[in-house]
Amino acid sequence: MAQIELPSYLEQSEAVRARFDRLKSREVILEVDQLGKVFDSPQGPVMALRDISFKTHRREFVCVIGPSGCGKSTLIRTLAGLESPSSGRVLLDGREVTEPGPDRGMVFQGYTLFPWLTVKRNVMFGLQMSGHAQSVAEGEAMDWIELVGLGRFAESYPHQLSGGMKQRVAIARALANQPRILLMDEPFGALDAQTRGKMQANLLEIWRNIDITILFITHDLDEAIYLADRILVLKANPGEVNELIEVPVPRPRSAEQFIGPEFLATKKRLEELIHPPSDDDDSDALNMVRMTRVGDSVENGLEEIE
Ligand SMILES: Nc1ncnc2c1ncn2[C@@H]1O[C@H](COP(=O)(O)OP(=O)(O)OP(=O)(O)O)[C@@H](O)[C@H]1O
Ligand SMILES: [Mg+2]
Repeated sequence: MAQIELPSYLEQSEAVRARFDRLKSREVILEVDQLGKVFDSPQGPVMALRDISFKTHRREFVCVIGPSGCGKSTLIRTLAGLESPSSGRVLLDGREVTEPGPDRGMVFQGYTLFPWLTVKRNVMFGLQMSGHAQSVAEGEAMDWIELVGLGRFAESYPHQLSGGMKQRVAIARALANQPRILLMDEPFGALDAQTRGKMQANLLEIWRNIDITILFITHDLDEAIYLADRILVLKANPGEVNELIEVPVPRPRSAEQFIGPEFLATKKRLEELIHPPSDDDDSDALNMVRMTRVGDSVENGLEEIE
């Protein structure tokens, strides 16, 4: 098979470069400053994160990838305030994060809905906890449930929903509290490829329509490229920043772009970083290009907020 000459992942069209210039001129929502995390374990201290620094701008979509155990979940848990830094700090809107707060929404891989509450009650829960009257919470919850396309299922219980639907409820519940940033740790990791593709398109559509900044962890290189403005690539032992890549794929994104030159050039770079050539042969199986979503045709665009 003939080798296709790919452009450099660093090459950006004028439109993509202009979009990044606009994005970087927006205010900084999240600043991670020389963050380090050491865990105590029976085998001695484990340095999970070392000297992690990056900034995320308003309405930016950042994906985080890296080998298993490189500290991705530790990073997001620290941003959420569920872990405290061993060194460095995390600033959200310029204020240091020391504990969980309603300014950060979380969505994890496991289904974390309350099984005894309906979809509507699950989404209302946080709103009622933060003091909203029942009728107000109900109205707002329904708006978010509609936004994730589950209006018909508002009175259903979690066990009556598919995995993808449950994750959509989790997203609605996280967004209902109107966080500044949505923190997602492999939220679609347990879903089949087709559902996953739909969820990705659905998430881009939501992100496009509201003022939300997203930090999204994934193992899936295609997912990262399809979703992200920038991809933070971590390396393991200890978890450090390998590279922060500006995705040169134009928006609106579409599944056809999976086989486009910018997409493939970015994927090649990510594979070099995640699976360096010294890896043993087993890693080749993981490197195979997955194109299960090429048939999907949902498009998405980032509208500027200015
Ligand atoms: N509570 C803990 N106590 C001790 N060590 C921990 C703790 N939590 C995480 N670690 C260690 O920190 C490192 C990073 O773990 P983490 O779960 O953040 O990695 P990850 O990148 O999310 O991995 P995966 O891709 O498998 O989800 C690992 O070596 C892990 O064993
Ligand atoms: Mg993890």
